[in-house]
Amino acid sequence: MHRMKLFLIGYMGSGKSTVGEKLTAMIHLDFIDFDDYIEKKAGKTIAEIFENQGEEKFRIMENSFLREVITIDNVVISLGGGTPCFFNNMELINKNGISVYLEMTVDSLVKRLLKAKRKRPLIDGMNAVDLKYFIEANLEKRKPIYKQAHHTINSENKSPEELAELIWKMVSK
Ligand code: S3P
Repeated sequence: MHRMKLFLIGYMGSGKSTVGEKLTAMIHLDFIDFDDYIEKKAGKTIAEIFENQGEEKFRIMENSFLREVITIDNVVISLGGGTPCFFNNMELINKNGISVYLEMTVDSLVKRLLKAKRKRPLIDGMNAVDLKYFIEANLEKRKPIYKQAHHTINSENKSPEELAELIWKMVSK
């Protein structure tokens, strides 16, 4: 295998990190969770960056760390839900590796995110109704960008292990 670089993209809560971990346990690539990468490099949590510096500053930081992380080889990188959607990030992603979009319905995302809103400043504190409206509108905007991924995988009702295997089959063809 030669200089493999795989990017997992998709909405918050679509399982990018869990699937990335499973995948790198199966094949011998390193795993990078891009949110963790940003937090380590910045020395602050994402919630703190949003709170103290605002989303706009976060997006600028995210773009500059993306430029850094795309230079690493033999790795699976699970990106933040918004990463592909700002600046020319999606173009950088697609030029530097293989991208896979983990697609999930709004209803599933709402269910999953209701349990995991903390640490996610964009949705922290929302109730089920607010969350559904927010995701519907936000996903509508983001979907055309996510759809530019080299591969799209329907992630409904599949375990992280199943998804990891499907992804590996897709990209190793
Ligand atoms: C965001 C998604 C988060 C994180 C930040 C913003 C987004 O990553 O980067 O809170 O804009 O969708 P996850 O998709 O890993 O939750």
